[in-house]
Amino acid sequence: MAFRLNSKHIIVLKTVIHLAALMPLIYTFYLASIDQLGADPVKALLYFSGISAFNLLLLSLLVSPLAKKLRQGLLINVRRLLGLYAFTYALSHFLVYILFELQLNWGLLLSEIIKRPYITVGFAALLILTALTLTSTRAAQRKLKNKWQKLHNWVYLAVLLVALHFIWSVKSDITEPLIYWAMALILLAQRKTKLQQWWQKRAKNKQNKQTSDPFSN
Ligand code: HEM
Repeated sequence: MAFRLNSKHIIVLKTVIHLAALMPLIYTFYLASIDQLGADPVKALLYFSGISAFNLLLLSLLVSPLAKKLRQGLLINVRRLLGLYAFTYALSHFLVYILFELQLNWGLLLSEIIKRPYITVGFAALLILTALTLTSTRAAQRKLKNKWQKLHNWVYLAVLLVALHFIWSVKSDITEPLIYWAMALILLAQRKTKLQQWWQKRAKNKQNKQTSDPFSN
């Protein structure tokens, strides 16, 4: 008989995810607090939190193609948890930046967002992840009905923005960001049909709008 994940397996898997996500976060910030993160602890914290946020985001996008391929429907239950940890890491990444790089200078943050494209796209991605986190509950899902899916499709844009943020933030060797671009594009390619349908629907809606209002553009 084929192996099927049951609810007990999912509880074990969720426990593993909690431990694997929380332990390195706590340990790394502990090392920073006792000054054991090398010559440039802020850079190390930014790298650790940024790359972990991206890894978790990509993992959350891997869940549904994997569940389909392996025919393990229950696997979908871990997707939200991975998404929430992606947000937790992204938020700690932002907090490290605003606390230690900008010393809570919000005016400087605003000018960085305006002046530096890699900060602009990183900030946009963080806003999307915040919206997705705030609406990730069952209650929000019920309240938003079919708007919920539309909103949560923004995760695809967030992934592309983070990939751009990564490649634009790197000054010399772009091998690692390119590998991340490849992973992001492979995961988006799994949703090709869904994205094509959405694009066609959008184009059709736009066309309908233009025929009903010939002066709009
Ligand atoms: C307001 C939002 C954000 C700000 C201000 C920000 C800021 C930064 C900064 C200052 C760096 C280091 C660049 C350098 O080494 O000179 C960086 C790198 C990075 N960020 Fe962000 N970031 C933001 C959002 C995000 C988000 C949402 C993610 C992922 C989900 C992310 C992932 C990364 C990654 C993977 C790197 C490359 C790691 C490195 O080379 O240090 N960032 N970010």
